[in-house]
Amino acid sequence: MKGKKVLIGITGSIAAYKIPFLVRLLVKAEAEVKVIMTLSAAEFVSPLVLSTLSKHDVSINLSSENTWSNHVMLGRWADIMLIAPASCNTIAKMANGICDNLLMSVYLSATCPLMLAPAMDEDMWNHPSLKKNIQTLQQFGHQVVESEYGELASGLIGMGRMAEPEKLFQEIELFLNKKKRLIGKKALVTAGPTYENLDPVRFIGNHSSGKMGIAIAEALANEGCEIELVLGPSHLSTKHPLINITRVTSAQQMYDASIAVFDQMNLGVMSAAVADYTPLTVSESKIKKKDEEFTIQLTKTKDILKHLGSIKKENQLLIGFALENKDEKTYALKKLKEKNADAIILNSLNDEGAGFAHDTNKITIFEKDGTETAFPLKTKQQLAIDIVEKIIEWTA
Ligand code: CTP
Repeated sequence: MKGKKVLIGITGSIAAYKIPFLVRLLVKAEAEVKVIMTLSAAEFVSPLVLSTLSKHDVSINLSSENTWSNHVMLGRWADIMLIAPASCNTIAKMANGICDNLLMSVYLSATCPLMLAPAMDEDMWNHPSLKKNIQTLQQFGHQVVESEYGELASGLIGMGRMAEPEKLFQEIELFLNKKKRLIGKKALVTAGPTYENLDPVRFIGNHSSGKMGIAIAEALANEGCEIELVLGPSHLSTKHPLINITRVTSAQQMYDASIAVFDQMNLGVMSAAVADYTPLTVSESKIKKKDEEFTIQLTKTKDILKHLGSIKKENQLLIGFALENKDEKTYALKKLKEKNADAIILNSLNDEGAGFAHDTNKITIFEKDGTETAFPLKTKQQLAIDIVEKIIEWTA
């Protein structure tokens, strides 16, 4: 665990008394530990004990006296954030994005993987709202360290007891030391929309956010893969150290940036929503409004996926996307063949919660050998992990 950065968020629950033991175990294993807690957690366990054991100040408020806790940097600093004990209340806030204390601000801005260890009485544990919230958090990609059966603070015996510090330590260690399976591999990922200029102020574009492609780039990078991310005009970005971003605007620029690097790549994932057409001419000055109708003549852009499919080498893997709203499977299979891809990931516009504007997506993967794998509706981050699992299978 030497040098690994662990951020622990403590919420108000009697199980908070176990956290100093966990901090000790982590520090003994040479991890760097920082602790944040809610005001009610401070009623159960002393911040002084935690700051002494962790050798760092413990943050409770967004601002206290003359200092301000930088919640964004805390979540970026950590290799992992563990919320333990995670009370029923905090779990509900996490599932619904409620930001009313420092811990929630850190959680909502954290870019590191997240683990939580729930603690509560059995009746709360069995409540359908808690079950639903836990499911939501799992869909966000968070790892839940299951509560255990045993004596509860109420004196009752049942489910809801927070996992012991040794178990939490083990889970953190397992996660941080998980073998990265794509070390030494390089991948090109295209993401986001493209904008095709009409004049200095107007363009033809689409609603792609780039979220799915960025999630794939991050999931690949989390397995140690080096990424060349060719990103269209998206307001999203990523700071992953293994991801090199080349920002482009038009389909032609995306083509040029992709062609420039593909030869050195082991795989390519073409998730960008590339414009199929671009204006034949771009006016140097702003086009003025006239009385008569206005027609734009469009010319075809280069199909990046198809071109890469035509030049790819035997040991290169190429994956494309298909966004369809009718005869989905037929079109997906047609793209798989015509673009010489190894797999096509289909998302249908007919599936609720899938597509550009959503944080969730529903996909089916069609492989060259006829294998077809359908996934249920999940967050784009969770699906990215599923896609990467497939990629690991294919590159093994
Ligand atoms: N694609 C690409 N370059 C283009 C157009 C598409 O690399 N100029 C890639 C996309 O990134 C995606 C796949 O091709 O991986 C499918 O894109 P899509 O637009 O759905 O397919 P098209 O071939 O453009 O067909 P259509 O628009 O008729 O569905």
